[in-house]
Amino acid sequence: MQRRQAVIGLGLAATGLGLSSVLSPVVRAQQPIVIKFSHVVAPNTPKGAAAEHFKKLAEERTQGRVKVEVYPNSQLYKDKEEVEALQLGSVQMLAPSLAKFGPLGAKEFELFDLPYIFDDYAELHKITQGPIGKSLLGKLESKGILGLAYWDNGFKDMSANKPLKSPADAKGLKMRIQSSKILDMEMRAIGAIPQVLAFSEVYQALQTGVVNGTENPPSNFYTQKFYEVQKYMTQTRHGYLGYAVIVNKKFWEGLPPDIRKILDQAMAESTEFANSVAKKDNEDATEAVRKSGKCEVVALTTAERLAWKKAMAPVYKQAQSRVPKALMDEVFKTTGFDPTKL
Ligand code: LMR
Repeated sequence: MQRRQAVIGLGLAATGLGLSSVLSPVVRAQQPIVIKFSHVVAPNTPKGAAAEHFKKLAEERTQGRVKVEVYPNSQLYKDKEEVEALQLGSVQMLAPSLAKFGPLGAKEFELFDLPYIFDDYAELHKITQGPIGKSLLGKLESKGILGLAYWDNGFKDMSANKPLKSPADAKGLKMRIQSSKILDMEMRAIGAIPQVLAFSEVYQALQTGVVNGTENPPSNFYTQKFYEVQKYMTQTRHGYLGYAVIVNKKFWEGLPPDIRKILDQAMAESTEFANSVAKKDNEDATEAVRKSGKCEVVALTTAERLAWKKAMAPVYKQAQSRVPKALMDEVFKTTGFDPTKL
């Protein structure tokens, strides 16, 4: 390298300017478009696997014009930081849990945290794959974000160092929750003390006793090894945890149209993939927790589950401070859930 070029190179490095930002458009056009996809769970979960599926389809079908870098397990950012990073353009794609949209100013998403509103995936899909789901995603646009899809995970179980057969068993327990205010209400309704922690901090918090319990679908419980630090996982199935795939609006809309078309199709197929593996992943994870021999999986009878539903019932009213009543009623009407019948 000539001395003059070396000096220019050093200057650029010092100013922090990437080489691609100063190359001519022709050279720049040959650089792949990089999509950084950051998430907080393990690769062998529904979200982790779907992110890899999207990477594969996107890279193959654009013949290398797009490179998707997937960063699992909070490698790049933790919960709160990843949303800020998306808005700043430091990453281009995320799939945060629907319980984490409140800090973005989209607290309606917390409706998915309402206890016991979906009996199964078919009921959930009436919302995520119907007009209500679509209109919720639309609310993100004013925040500079586009919502591309909903990806399923599953129904949450509660864990602690004792079986949680009845809601009274949870009284006084410090329970880790995601940042949703509706989850806060839910824990208070059963007399537990909710504590918001980033997902990446949960294992250690359980291990050291900062919290004594938590809630998550089995796939997260197993892949984060919570079974090593919790003696019981009770099948409360009291709520749903799933995701919205979101992108930086400016970035996505600035993509060349042909690339965008391919990526939209890859996303549609990755969504089908995520939603086809979620149920089985969670069943397998439950079995794996059982087989670990370290954590007992506790089933609930119908009568026991009813006691949980009743204990959490005050949440539907309290939640109106987060989700408009009309929206909640529309959801209940669509899925056939009637909170007055509890
Ligand atoms: C959690 O924080 O418990 C979940 O949001 C993690 C995830 O993304 O599934």
